[in-house]
Amino acid sequence: MFDTKMVERIGELKKERNAVILAHNYQPPAIQDIADLVGDSYELSVKASQTEAEVIVFCGVHFMAETAYILAPEKTVLLPEKLAGCPLADTITAEQLKEFKQEYPSHAVVTYVNSSAEVKAESYVCVTSSNALKVINSLETDKILFTPDKNLGMYLGNKTEKEVRVWDGYCITHERVTVEEVKRAREEHPDALIIVHPECPPEVTRLADEALSTGGMIRLGAETSYDKIIVGTEMGLIYRLSKENPGKEFKLLSPGLVCPNMKYITLDKVVESLENLKGQVTVPDEIAVKAREALERMISVPSGD
Ligand code: 13P
Repeated sequence: MFDTKMVERIGELKKERNAVILAHNYQPPAIQDIADLVGDSYELSVKASQTEAEVIVFCGVHFMAETAYILAPEKTVLLPEKLAGCPLADTITAEQLKEFKQEYPSHAVVTYVNSSAEVKAESYVCVTSSNALKVINSLETDKILFTPDKNLGMYLGNKTEKEVRVWDGYCITHERVTVEEVKRAREEHPDALIIVHPECPPEVTRLADEALSTGGMIRLGAETSYDKIIVGTEMGLIYRLSKENPGKEFKLLSPGLVCPNMKYITLDKVVESLENLKGQVTVPDEIAVKAREALERMISVPSGD
């Protein structure tokens, strides 16, 4: 089927199924263009929890669809390609988190949304990169165990007065960005603003002008008076930034900023998923109930980095 035919078919199926299509900012252009909402992890979680649609097609990776299901268990949540995982989420299991908690029994567990449902269920609160600092500062305790992303955890540790102990996980895509790449970008584009995601290593984040969630980058892209912006996050964001800000130039900081998992979703897989309700994601009740508490605490703290 040609793309235009598939786009038409998706429109028909969306009506038949009463479905909404949610896409992360890292999704390929064709997917962003058919989505009802393109957003960051926080925005998509909130939308999933509030939508009146019966079916949610989640164009992103597995933990995102799982989060949508936990927040809206009465909906059918579809992930059009089951291989779309998150290596960062896989860096910690619930068993490992239980051991980590035993080592630091007086610390509160704050877990990045890029994690499995089982790990969320063992956590007090979840965060996204757009509200993590606010969540940490809002907690009564000043001792935090942060899982699973050490880079985001260290970034937060430098921004808060609280003690933040981190798990040793990282995003393989953001971890690839180097100090040399930031220095080279500065030399080659002295007139540009350099923004990076806080999943990048701390020495990279320190050299950049701003560290922001993808939603924060979208807001900054619209508001900044710079007309050249170097972007240190997954390449999918460049499409949306360029589309929404035609007068500005957005350049990728590093050629390594490609997440293969985010590229699994294609138009034909969305068609197949909607036609056959293929790729349903669910979470057992006993885990979902506990994970929902941590996610609802997350959603109750507004985003806006
Ligand atoms: P945000 O879109 O919330 O910034 O998250 C980025 C990310 O790495 C998702 O996997």
